[in-house]
Amino acid sequence: MTTLRLDDLRQYSDVLRSRSGDPMTIRFVEPRDAEELQNYFRSLSTRSRYNRFLGAMSELSKSQLEHFTHVGEGERFSVVATMNVDGFETIVGEARYAFHADAGSLEFGLSIHDRWQGHGIGSSLLKNLECRTAAFGAERLFGDTLRSNDAMIALARKSGYAFTHNPDDWKLVRFEKHIDAAPKDIPCASWKLAAEQIVHPAAM
Ligand SMILES: CC(C)(COP(=O)(O)OP(=O)(O)OC[C@H]1O[C@@H](n2cnc3c(N)ncnc32)[C@H](O)[C@@H]1OP(=O)(O)O)[C@@H](O)C(=O)NCCC(=O)NCCS
Repeated sequence: MTTLRLDDLRQYSDVLRSRSGDPMTIRFVEPRDAEELQNYFRSLSTRSRYNRFLGAMSELSKSQLEHFTHVGEGERFSVVATMNVDGFETIVGEARYAFHADAGSLEFGLSIHDRWQGHGIGSSLLKNLECRTAAFGAERLFGDTLRSNDAMIALARKSGYAFTHNPDDWKLVRFEKHIDAAPKDIPCASWKLAAEQIVHPAAM
């Protein structure tokens, strides 16, 4: 069961840097982000959206949007990477992850907006997810991607992930990493605070 301070989700934000040093904030999605998040997905290229959701879709359904904007429900969490663009906080990427307490693993999917791809944002967001995995006390971080997704496969390879078959779908490749400690070169202090506020059912 998750007991995040839902009235003050901003306290769990981390500030990372793109390759060129621009600051970006990784923070939980809040209900008030619904419209901007939907606009973000709509404005991805068809290819990026296809790769993100492992199939064709034009936007999130109403119920998906509802789930994305309510962090912690069912041990699933959505974060956005935002940057200040022309004075406005703008979503440049997102990730959604699920904590599988029984398996001690975190499963995730992520995307970076086409306009911001190639700036090191995906690498930083992935490392931040590794911090979150460690903070949960989970030992394995994994995701699935289409075999044709060269960019994600290259990012995972470069980030030290191993590849296996997806047991249920031959079109997918699974990348996974054993996490024994939080990466030291990426801020995730605020997420540690969040993890302390997660009460695991076994501990209750
Ligand atoms: C895959 C994705 C997340 C990469 O994010 P990104 O911010 O562009 O990646 P980075 O800039 O951090 O790149 C890190 C490394 O990934 C690899 N990489 C990224 N884009 C690549 C591309 N188009 N082709 C080949 N390799 C690529 C490179 O090794 C790169 O390192 P380098 O720049 O030193 O060569 C992004 O392309 C994306 O959001 N795609 C659409 C959604 C998606 O595919 N999601 C994955 C589903 S799980």
